[in-house]
Amino acid sequence: MNEEAQAKAYAEADFAEPHNHCIELLAECLPDLPASGAAADLGCGPGDISRRFARAFPSWTVDGLDGSAAMLRFGHEEVLRSGLSDRVRLIECYLPNGDAPREHYDLVFSNALLHHLAEPTVLWTSVRRWSRAGGPVFVMDLLRPESREQARHLVEQYSGNEPEVLKHDFYNSLLASYSVDEVRSQLTASGLPHLEVRQSSDRHLIVWGII
Ligand SMILES: C[S@@+](CC[C@H](N)C(=O)[O-])C[C@H]1O[C@@H](n2cnc3c(N)ncnc32)[C@H](O)[C@@H]1O
Repeated sequence: MNEEAQAKAYAEADFAEPHNHCIELLAECLPDLPASGAAADLGCGPGDISRRFARAFPSWTVDGLDGSAAMLRFGHEEVLRSGLSDRVRLIECYLPNGDAPREHYDLVFSNALLHHLAEPTVLWTSVRRWSRAGGPVFVMDLLRPESREQARHLVEQYSGNEPEVLKHDFYNSLLASYSVDEVRSQLTASGLPHLEVRQSSDRHLIVWGII
């Protein structure tokens, strides 16, 4: 399975439920978000979360940053199709050292990137790098299940009808993800111990706060 086919399967999957929940949680956790601003979506993939955020916060712009040209190609088409190209840009940028259009953002958010990184500090370094001082941050990721059996159960429950490649990716992603305590340790080691962490569903955790 090549990167293009994986990106296509991911871009065509239905993530409406977890992605809408992600935006709802972001709004709940960051009630003082200004009416307008510039946000960065780290590891945006095909940009589904970037577009959902832009629809929910119509006076904000979003720069989605991702290292995969294949993922971004699908995202560019969707941004155009959804009429959001005046507010959503998807940019090829490999974290943590790639170049983004802005030096700092009014909000930095990310979904489902942490478990993809061989070194989790890449996410926390990137959050610090692109946040403005006193800026809000919101991260959602998968939560590692207690066992392989539970992981298999979650895959069947939530992606039983998806193509095999996606089910396989979901299973591996669940096993590669972290517990709440592990994320707390990462935050402490990265100089962000004041950010809050909690489980947000049977398969997700969230991190939020002010940098
Ligand atoms: C599971 S996808 C999540 C995409 C999107 N955030 C979403 O919620 O649909 C993970 C994404 O992280 C990207 N990624 C992984 N490591 C990266 C890095 N070091 N820099 C930039 N993007 C990275 C991958 O290319 C992929 O698009």
